[in-house]
Amino acid sequence: MIIKTKDFILRPLKLSDAKLYFETMQDKETKKNLESVPKNLKEAKQEIRDYIKQVKEKDSKYFTIEIKGKYAGNVILQHQNWDPKSDEGRVHLWIHPDYRKKGLATNALKEVIEYGFKKKFKKIFAQCKAINKGVIKINKKLEFKKVKTFVNEQGVKKILWVKEK
Ligand SMILES: CC(C)(COP(=O)(O)OP(=O)(O)OC[C@H]1O[C@@H](n2cnc3c(N)ncnc32)[C@H](O)[C@@H]1OP(=O)(O)O)[C@@H](O)C(=O)NCCC(=O)NCCS
Repeated sequence: MIIKTKDFILRPLKLSDAKLYFETMQDKETKKNLESVPKNLKEAKQEIRDYIKQVKEKDSKYFTIEIKGKYAGNVILQHQNWDPKSDEGRVHLWIHPDYRKKGLATNALKEVIEYGFKKKFKKIFAQCKAINKGVIKINKKLEFKKVKTFVNEQGVKKILWVKEK
C-alpha cells in the first residue's frame, strides 16, 4: 500500500529504516514528547520488527514518509484498543528532525486520516502530551476535537482528541 502526493510518499515501514528511525528517536524533542524511545539501534530494529508483526496481526498501518527516496518520519494508523473489528482508529506520528517545520506532519496526517475514513473508520483518535505545542496546533488545524485532558498512570498530563468522519 503506497500513497503518493506531490511532496512525499507514504510506503510501508521497513527494517532498513532502522538507522534514521533511531536517529529520530534520539532527538531531544522526540524524547520529551513520546512515552518511551529505543535506547540503541538493536532496540530500534526490534521495535520495527514488532511493528511489522502488528501490520500482519492487528491490521495496523505503519507508513514511512519518504521524500526523494529518503526517510522523513512515520505516520501510523491503528485500530483503537488493538481490535481489528473496531471501526475506531488512532494515529501516531514523528518526523525526522531534518524535515520538521515544513508542514510535513500536518500533510502526512491529513493523508492518513482521509485514507482511514475511506477504508473503514468512523472515528479517529489521537493522544499527545499536554506540553506538545506542535501536535496541539496540528490537531486543531486538522479539526480534531478535544475529548479530555487527563493524567495517565505515569503521572503525565495528556490530551485525547477525536475526529469524526
Ligand atoms: C510534533 C511534530 C510531529 C511536528 O512535525 P512538523 O512536520 O514539524 O509539523 P508541521 O510543520 O506540520 O507544523 C504544523 C504547525 O505546528 C507548528 N509547530 C510544529 N512544531 C512545533 C513546536 N515544537 N512548537 C510550536 N509549534 C510547532 C508549526 O510551526 C506549524 O505552524 P503553522 O501552521 O502556523 O506554520 C515533530 O516536531 C515531531 O516529530 N516531534 C517529536 C515527536 C512527537 O512529538 N510526536 C507526536 C507525539 S503525540
